[in-house]
Amino acid sequence: MFKRAYIIMTINKKLLATIGLLSAVVFMAMSPDAKPADEPFKNLKVLPKNISKEEMHKTMEEWEHALGARCSFCHVRNEDTKKMDFAADGKPEKEMAREMYKMTQDINKKYFHAQKDSTDRIMESSINCYSCHRGVSHPEVVRASELPRQAPAGQPSWAPGTTPAPGTTPAPAAGATPPAPAPVPEKKP
Ligand code: HEC
Ligand code: HEC
Repeated sequence: MFKRAYIIMTINKKLLATIGLLSAVVFMAMSPDAKPADEPFKNLKVLPKNISKEEMHKTMEEWEHALGARCSFCHVRNEDTKKMDFAADGKPEKEMAREMYKMTQDINKKYFHAQKDSTDRIMESSINCYSCHRGVSHPEVVRASELPRQAPAGQPSWAPGTTPAPGTTPAPAAGATPPAPAPVPEKKP
């Protein structure tokens, strides 16, 4: 009884292996040109060549939001087809974005010891586009010391021992909910 069950199991295993092999052959025959599935994009110089469509979408969306810019800030439209040509390098902003991406990776790698992820991409360990851009495409140099003082929530908005600057609201009473920070305006070109 036990022995019979064992034999049936062995046959089943062999059968399964054969079916598995067969379906692999069929699958390969169905997709003679397997490469484009692995590399769906045509003109990548800094992102991993085998980046998935989802990962690419996420990256572009992230850049869009970090810079407060549309796709067309970096990408050109093909005037013949009237469609966006994402692979074309017609705009200097696209090349600048590549440089920025390399810089961001270098900073993370060199100064924050970022590791590579499974796609060989250096991880965003400590900084990303938003760290500098904060929703604007062209960040200006600002002297932080010349800005009006901003206190952390619940703290007086002026340094101890000084008088509040004209026009500033005094700090809320202890226990009161601090007001929500003003939203950062988004600049869309
Ligand atoms: C800040 C600039 C910037 C913005 C904004 C941006 N992209 Fe990109 N995009 C790039 C760069 C740079 C590359 C090339 C990356 C490389 O060389 O590895 C690229 C590549 C692509 C590719 C791959 C094209 C190919 O076949 O090589 C697609 C698709 C794409 N972007 C779509 C979009 C979409 C959709 C949006 C808007 C949601 C968008 N991008 C917004 C800079 C940008
Ligand atoms: C360390 C800070 C920093 C980081 C990180 C950074 N940028 Fe920038 N970026 C700047 C500054 C500053 C400028 C303006 C440069 C100038 O004045 O010439 C700029 C300019 C640009 C421009 C050109 C804008 C224009 O007006 O033509 C693009 C495109 C851009 N960045 C994309 C990116 C992308 C995409 C990332 C993330 C992958 C990124 N940047 C990360 C600081 C940064």
